[in-house]
Amino acid sequence: MIVCVCHNISERKIRQAVDAGFDTMPALREQLGVGTCCGKCHSCAKTVLRECLEEGTREAQPMVFQPAMAA
Ligand code: FES
Repeated sequence: MIVCVCHNISERKIRQAVDAGFDTMPALREQLGVGTCCGKCHSCAKTVLRECLEEGTREAQPMVFQPAMAA
């Protein structure tokens, strides 16, 4: 899905930038130019950013293994 029509920036491009460490709106603006023309994409880009950060937080949770119960 295209998030920023002015700069042809897709949701995938934003996700890649977040994965590369550009994890704030100012960083995304500087790196990709998202929201720097008409600004209509700002809230959508922010939503994608928030989703990426939430997904990253979830993936960072340690896995806890429970021992198998003896039968
Ligand atoms: S749609 Fe992103 S700046 Fe216009």
